[in-house]
Amino acid sequence: MPTAPSNPAGTPAAVRDVYSGAERELWELVMGEQIHIDGLASSLALAAKAGVEPGGTAVDLCCCSGAGLRFLLRFAQVAQGIGVDMTPAVLRLGAERNRRDGVDGCIRFVQADARASGLPDAGADLVWGEDAWCYVPDKPALVREAVRLAKPGGTIAFTDWMWGASPPEAAAGERFLRFMKFPDLMSLDSYRAAFAAAGARIEVAEDTGRFAPAIERYLADLAGQHTWDALRIIGFDQAMAGAIIGEMRHALELGRAGAVVQGLIVARKP
Ligand SMILES: C[S@@+](CC[C@H](N)C(=O)[O-])C[C@H]1O[C@@H](n2cnc3c(N)ncnc32)[C@H](O)[C@@H]1O
Repeated sequence: MPTAPSNPAGTPAAVRDVYSGAERELWELVMGEQIHIDGLASSLALAAKAGVEPGGTAVDLCCCSGAGLRFLLRFAQVAQGIGVDMTPAVLRLGAERNRRDGVDGCIRFVQADARASGLPDAGADLVWGEDAWCYVPDKPALVREAVRLAKPGGTIAFTDWMWGASPPEAAAGERFLRFMKFPDLMSLDSYRAAFAAAGARIEVAEDTGRFAPAIERYLADLAGQHTWDALRIIGFDQAMAGAIIGEMRHALELGRAGAVVQGLIVARKP
């Protein structure tokens, strides 16, 4: 078996830097307040597949500014949200956005590593994640934390960037991980194994098919409507702009080849 691609530079400190500054702004320009592939459409599909019920408490692991929880309150009538994220800057932004949307009484944030949230056992009806677990080293530990937080019968539902059915060559995979600051990636199969080891039952595990078309759109927007705004965010550094576009084209190639996908998983705690 070839060794899976990995990136030792994809540390929590490096990721915190990304989400404390210009790179987060760039991702929001490209994706919007919901920093995940296909925004609202993806969230609606995940909530539907998870069978999210009104009421109850959701914990969003790696919540960024809390867009996932504001979505769950508005579109799935979840009653309370707790967002866990390690980056103070995004949590400050999230608190402002919660006030803006009048949901600051229903959503609170915990600044912590998502693998050790400090939240109580079995307090969540729903543990949620959207395109963020890819940043976390030792994802089986994150899966154990998600299962620990869920009530018996509770749901763990998330999307994530994953290796697809045709994983890349090591060099191409490592190039992608370095660009994204991911330490490594799971696949649907390795998540299946991690959930089985953590004692939860996987009910849905699928490739959403959304990855490559979305990257193609982001590239078109960066070359058109968003060019000025993107250049402003990176201080009009043309060389950096060229490098980013080059790496996104590489990500698109990996997506088209089925090497990288947005995967969707719904698991139930017995
Ligand atoms: C892509 S953003 C999440 C986007 C969000 N789910 C949404 O849909 O809008 C990734 C977030 O993961 C957080 N993060 C990455 N690694 C983490 C870790 N080990 N523990 C807690 N948060 C982490 C980052 O701080 C960042 O805010």
